[in-house]
Amino acid sequence: MKHIKIFDTTLRDGEQSPGASLNADEKLLIAKQLTKLGVDVIEAGFPVTSPNEFEAVKIIAKEVDGPVICGLARLVKQDIERAWDAVQYSKKPRIHTFIATSKVHMESKLRKSKQEIMDMVEESVGLASLFTKDVEFSPEDASRTDIDYMCEIISTAIDSGATTINIPDTVGCAQPEEFADRIKYVRENVPEIKKVDISVHCHDDLGLAVANSLAGMKSGATQIECTINGIGERAGNAPLEEIVMNLHARNDFFKGFSASINTDYLFETSKMVSELTGLNIQRNKAIVGRNAFAHEAGVHQHAVLNNSKTYEIMSPESVGWQGENIVIGKHSGSHATMSVLNELGFSLSKSQISKVVWEVKQLADVQKTVDREEISKIAEGIVALTS
Ligand code: KIV
Ligand code: ZN
Repeated sequence: MKHIKIFDTTLRDGEQSPGASLNADEKLLIAKQLTKLGVDVIEAGFPVTSPNEFEAVKIIAKEVDGPVICGLARLVKQDIERAWDAVQYSKKPRIHTFIATSKVHMESKLRKSKQEIMDMVEESVGLASLFTKDVEFSPEDASRTDIDYMCEIISTAIDSGATTINIPDTVGCAQPEEFADRIKYVRENVPEIKKVDISVHCHDDLGLAVANSLAGMKSGATQIECTINGIGERAGNAPLEEIVMNLHARNDFFKGFSASINTDYLFETSKMVSELTGLNIQRNKAIVGRNAFAHEAGVHQHAVLNNSKTYEIMSPESVGWQGENIVIGKHSGSHATMSVLNELGFSLSKSQISKVVWEVKQLADVQKTVDREEISKIAEGIVALTS
């Protein structure tokens, strides 16, 4: 089995979602929950950005035992020192350094030449590796970077002490095959890459973050960077729950790959992150959305009640999902209504059930769904009228 490291960046990239900022106590709660979930690495924050951010990373490094605790730093001395000051309390500290390497970023953002950036990589990755043996390096905007220049940069980073090389699709423009080819190219053209972990970090601007991450993994990446609920800059990052459940639900396709996540806690973790960040989860969100395991159409409900495998490729219990999976609406039929009536403790005749179904459909026509309490009231009314 090839162990895929799950690098969770909910507390760093995820927190960069507009409006999602968290205080140190909230970050600590989430970090403890991520530990329970079994992530390998927690990117706890970007320590240089503010005193509160620094304190949050430091507290997590002190109090959270198990995962590697990582702090982000640009390739500048002050950032690297600040990151180290915060993560040094962890038993497993990591410094994650990055610099943009695409033409547009080098020219319009950094205003630096290729050689200047190369020199910064050598000097600053070298500095980080004096503090810890666990140093990650990311050529930001990797998927739009000249591939041979990117290979040279990666080679320099490894020679300077990097132990994980992350390939970020910073603007979420990559396509799965293309992204997989990029990873393959690095493996074939950077001899030193064998000594380190290859990581992928995909944004979801075109809705391909999960597909790209998994394609990168199949092409040789051993670490996937992701966030709970897929929160993150702009359209967000690859959602952790989707990555992990792809590995589980399609273990026939992803044969030989495994992650150490306890999937029972996925729903609980998703709910916690949503509540603390204030970022709602769309109803039809894969794995953790309110509708993810809910069936409303009569044909589906009938089939699922006979055998859940007809329409469920994983069980709600396997991700700790809580909710009503048989939702009564205008498309529901008598089988589903009957099962709900049983669940509510009613034992009705066939004709009473037909009357309940009819009234439920009328109500559903005007209010979309009919909850258990309303079904109960309808059934009580029918019982009173017919017995
Ligand atoms: O998206 C990105 O490029 C990043 C880097 C800091 C890894 O978040
Ligand atoms: Zn990112």
